[in-house]
Amino acid sequence: MPPSNPDWFRHDRFGMFVHWGLYSLAARHEWVMNRERTSVEEYERYARFFDPDLYDPADWAARAKAAGMRYVVLTTKHHEGFCLWNTRLTDYSVMNTPAARDLVAPFVEAVRAAGLKVGFYHSLLDWHHPDFTVDGHHPLRDGDVERLNVGRDMANYRKYLHGQVRELLTDYGTIDYLFFDFSYPPESGHGVAGGKGAADWDSEELLAMVRELQPGIVVNERLDIPGDFMTPEQYQPTGPIMSEGVPVAWEACQTLNGSWGYDRDNEDYKSPDLLIRMLIDGVSKDGNLLLNVGPTARGSLDPHAIRSLDAVGEWMRVHSRSIYGAGSAEFTPPPDARYTRRGNRLYLHLFAWPFQHVHLPGLAGRVEYAQLLNDASEIHMREITEDTPGLYTAVGGQPPLTLTLTLPVRRPDVAVPVIEIFLREPEPAGE
Ligand code: GLC
Repeated sequence: MPPSNPDWFRHDRFGMFVHWGLYSLAARHEWVMNRERTSVEEYERYARFFDPDLYDPADWAARAKAAGMRYVVLTTKHHEGFCLWNTRLTDYSVMNTPAARDLVAPFVEAVRAAGLKVGFYHSLLDWHHPDFTVDGHHPLRDGDVERLNVGRDMANYRKYLHGQVRELLTDYGTIDYLFFDFSYPPESGHGVAGGKGAADWDSEELLAMVRELQPGIVVNERLDIPGDFMTPEQYQPTGPIMSEGVPVAWEACQTLNGSWGYDRDNEDYKSPDLLIRMLIDGVSKDGNLLLNVGPTARGSLDPHAIRSLDAVGEWMRVHSRSIYGAGSAEFTPPPDARYTRRGNRLYLHLFAWPFQHVHLPGLAGRVEYAQLLNDASEIHMREITEDTPGLYTAVGGQPPLTLTLTLPVRRPDVAVPVIEIFLREPEPAGE
């Protein structure tokens, strides 16, 4: 099956990641089972107390939409192996907790009702499944791995993995996006117990099944075989991502505070301004931002997450046309700034507010008009090619083809000021 057409994905640019599971009860990172080397028997006790009485996926969807996010991705199963839907393939699911109901179905309905795209995250790892062999990431990795793996049969686990993906892509209507997580091929290290890659998942067959069940879905590259988009994680690429010399769709997945799952005592929050700059930075390099929230075990978003989403939404409410449908521009931006381009509109995002002037190389003669995006107030522009000797109050001549914009001294009261530049020429051919 050919790869899916990620046009909506490239256009929408901004999504919400939701990490939610039994680790939300532990409230100290979603890798708590790995970090604390917790046995299955001990970890299973969390299932007895998982009772998300405040779960309201319509609220999650509304907050994502208000933040300017166009798709929402929910962890169906994380590495811990606990399933948030009514799976027929294991008892280790939400059906056998005080919640006692499928939590994926109302999520899909709420996100779709909000007019957003529906995404699933699904872990290839499973630290609960008896046939998933102990490896370099497994909570039991410090034990006698050879003895622990006696009787474990990855062929059975592959059947389980494919069976659950089939359930998820069959029972919930159209699913637009799938984030598999993750491959760590044996050659990439991971200690004496080693890693797992495409052969362990039977990735080719799994991806073929995904495309058969959901022909329009976009899938990431973490099956350890090519997908529809790349997934830089917890860093910002320095430029467009290329594969064999060709730019590819990519999405940076980022957290609010370094943890994907709810992490109660973690205060390492990124400021809303930084989050907005990360979104802009990614789009300026033809990438998306998938920004994560980790709901509590009650099912609610924590106050800090809410404040972050509100602040990003306030900026997006006025500036989203520099993000949606936008991408990189062929021009070199001035210092502390990013360009995005959408058709014949060029957007100058000023991460620092310069005093009085900003000089734009190569744009002289190519701009019809310019305005502050937040209030559509005109920004004056001119070419300054000559110095004015002796006139100490005149800004100096600039290199040829430089366009100088005159800025108000007072910085607009927005997280990142943006100047909307109306180019004279149409979109470059092939855009
Ligand atoms: C890494 C982490 C996992 C998280 C994922 C999000 O793979 O192991 O916990 O869900 O990143 O991209």
